[in-house]
Amino acid sequence: MKAKPTPKKEIKKTSWEEFYKKPLSKRLNYYSQKGRLFDCLFSQQFDRKLLDYFFTLATRIRTIAKNKEGLDWLQTLLSHKRAMLYFIQPSTRTFLSFQSACYILGMKVSEIRSTSTSSELKGESPEDTVRTFSSYTDLIVMRHFEEGFAEKTAWMLNKTNRPVPVINGGSGKDQHPTQALLDLYTLNWAFNDKGGIDNKKIAMVGDLKRGRTARSLTYLLSNYKNIEFIFVAPDYLKMGDDIKSYLKRHKTKFSESDNLNKSIKNVDAVYMTRIQDEYDINGESKDIDYSKFHLTEDSLKLIKKNTIIMHPLPRRAEIDPAIDDDPRAMYWRQERNGMWIRAALIAHIFEVDEAILVR
Ligand code: CP
Repeated sequence: MKAKPTPKKEIKKTSWEEFYKKPLSKRLNYYSQKGRLFDCLFSQQFDRKLLDYFFTLATRIRTIAKNKEGLDWLQTLLSHKRAMLYFIQPSTRTFLSFQSACYILGMKVSEIRSTSTSSELKGESPEDTVRTFSSYTDLIVMRHFEEGFAEKTAWMLNKTNRPVPVINGGSGKDQHPTQALLDLYTLNWAFNDKGGIDNKKIAMVGDLKRGRTARSLTYLLSNYKNIEFIFVAPDYLKMGDDIKSYLKRHKTKFSESDNLNKSIKNVDAVYMTRIQDEYDINGESKDIDYSKFHLTEDSLKLIKKNTIIMHPLPRRAEIDPAIDDDPRAMYWRQERNGMWIRAALIAHIFEVDEAILVR
């Protein structure tokens, strides 16, 4: 990844509205410094080389943390740093895995999980709220319902005298880049003895229109050779045109279907997703028969013996819990992988990655 921060002088003269209108490709450099990520906001910040490096680093952290001596050493690396976890949309695993990743590296953690417990309730703007975090902490990890707000936070803080890094832990319906990282890390592990991720066929199933995990993972997978997607969704919840245009530009094959059973027969991975009805405007999800997009024990008879089953979780009924013990089910591994890859990301941002790799 070539990183050349946009000169501050130029950015200082630009309003957020002007900056945000630029194509993403022209904004990305602003979020890297000294040839490494400073803010992690988008899947499009990663190329294959960087992804491979993160997999190596995450696995190294996992290995070192296996015993007390190793974990004690890791916890010295960032014991002088503090992190703010600002999660005002619900979260279980992203929150906990970031918290655990911070603990692995010795960071102290503060949290706000609802605007009802911050001064936003007294009328403080979201912009002032996040600027306040930078007065007390060295890293902000945030989940926000508004698309673009994580980027706005990073853009704004990068212009101040205390530009702390911002990690996007989920921004509205748009992106969830660290989920995509852990999904890809899991795919890389699962396909390790099957030629890696290249040449794989992947079915993405469910609410692809509003599922930020599927969107972010699609971006990351387009870094690999000869990937083929089947997007399986009800008509109303089809994958967005922005992603489909991106795939066309990157010459990545995809097809669309609303037939789950036909679509999963010859794929290497099935990526299931929940209906994202929290984004309904008028309860429109109620009219959709989502049961056609559920994986049942019978579905296991249709897939290949080595097809892996993934889900970012949380699930509702889209994967029968009877499938959980099948060796092809990867979703519990995925959520634990989130802790390791997020620790790798934080280690990279704070430049303790080399020390980890040479230990
Ligand atoms: N996958 C995911 O983002 O889970 P949480 O909503 O529990 O964080």
